[in-house]
Amino acid sequence: MANLMDTLQQRLAESKAKSFLDPAFAEFMDQQDPLRALRNEFVIPARGEIAPGADRPDEPCTYLCGNSLGLMPKNVTKYVQEELTVWGEGAVNSHFKHRFGRPWVRIEETVQEQSARIVGAKKDEVAIMNTLTSNLHFLLAAFYTPTQERHKILIESKAFPSDHYAIESQILWRGLDPAKSLICQEPRKGEFLLRTEDILETIEKHGHEIAVVCFSGIQFYTGQYFEMEKITKAAQAKGCIVGWDLAHAAGNVPVKLHDWNVDFACWCSYKYLNSGPGGIAGLFVHERHAEDYSRKRLAGWWGHDKATRFDMVNEFKAMAGAAGFQHSNPSVLCTSALLGSLSVFEQTTMEDLRAKSKLLTAYLFHLLTTEFSAAILEIITPTDPEQRGAQLSLVFKGGKMMDIFDRLCAKAIIGDERKPDVIRVAPAPLYCRFEDVRFFVSELKALVAELYA
Ligand SMILES: Cc1ncc(COP(=O)(O)O)c(C=O)c1O
Repeated sequence: MANLMDTLQQRLAESKAKSFLDPAFAEFMDQQDPLRALRNEFVIPARGEIAPGADRPDEPCTYLCGNSLGLMPKNVTKYVQEELTVWGEGAVNSHFKHRFGRPWVRIEETVQEQSARIVGAKKDEVAIMNTLTSNLHFLLAAFYTPTQERHKILIESKAFPSDHYAIESQILWRGLDPAKSLICQEPRKGEFLLRTEDILETIEKHGHEIAVVCFSGIQFYTGQYFEMEKITKAAQAKGCIVGWDLAHAAGNVPVKLHDWNVDFACWCSYKYLNSGPGGIAGLFVHERHAEDYSRKRLAGWWGHDKATRFDMVNEFKAMAGAAGFQHSNPSVLCTSALLGSLSVFEQTTMEDLRAKSKLLTAYLFHLLTTEFSAAILEIITPTDPEQRGAQLSLVFKGGKMMDIFDRLCAKAIIGDERKPDVIRVAPAPLYCRFEDVRFFVSELKALVAELYA
């Protein structure tokens, strides 16, 4: 944090702006931003569309909601339209003959390598398929192999509900009792974040009876970026399988699934990966499991050996690697939307994005902690930039969260709310500016002055 604050202070001096909240400072930062051109790759809703009656209706809104649904990259229209054209012109023949060089029979390969780069994986460790919760189920079907001694799954007590339901149902599906086979790691009393030391202690104490440790890379509610490598290593040392849900991490922070030796992972692509609502998801299986055909998996023809897939012989032969976990032929329209989005990621690196993201979120953090007292607003996301991504989660005191949220919406500022009292804001570095952060904080300041008077 000190380094980021030093950078911000130094830039403030260079900008000759009066303060961090001076529009001249944000303008200076945006001019200096080496990634500033990437914003032009996105369709940003107009203020008037988001908040009818707002002033400056034709100007872009302030979008701080990439943690929920990323903005639409302009290239998505191009790639999806091309598939519609090919569908119209070639219909079924387009599975094999495609005028843009993307025959549908191999459509998933068009997004495999770029997706792998984003999550720090080798190409063959990644399959682009299904949706997130489905992928979690399919992975657990193969990787959760409970025995009498080792039958437990360790998760966060506040895991995203879909993950909790999926994992609980996997335990029930095996004829086991979640009351005995599910361990939910709780934060300490009065705390929101999970301390790594507490997670490691649980692993140390219960590791011998834990079959799978499955956490989110970044916690959806608090924005905490877990120490993935440390947790993976500790759990594997105890003989556990380790899986991660990267819904809020993929495209947000540069994870290294291969190097960290993670067993499996899954993610959606509609948040920081901007592939559109309900977009196609991803799955990772470490290469050391690539040729382990002894695990029972749920199979489908898309996981079967490509060379004989169309022979229809009904003798399932899984492909090596993540590809062997596929089931259905993937949605071409969703895959091409992801391809459009990844074409923007291709213009940068996760490291450069992370560098901007850290500075942008540090700026937001600094403004919020200096402009508001703890009696009004508390940031529950970690203070340490290494332990968070783009998102900050703000608890509003005094039962005023929904009022604040509605009034921000009326000003065409989009974050999202999580009841009872949290507003999440995430300046996604691909398209958010320092000016977006500054504008949000200065408008929030005016609202707080009204509401807490
Ligand atoms: C951490 C996490 N897990 C799972 C899900 C559910 O995703 P899906 O509906 O795509 O399966 C979400 C959705 O936001 C999420 O944030």
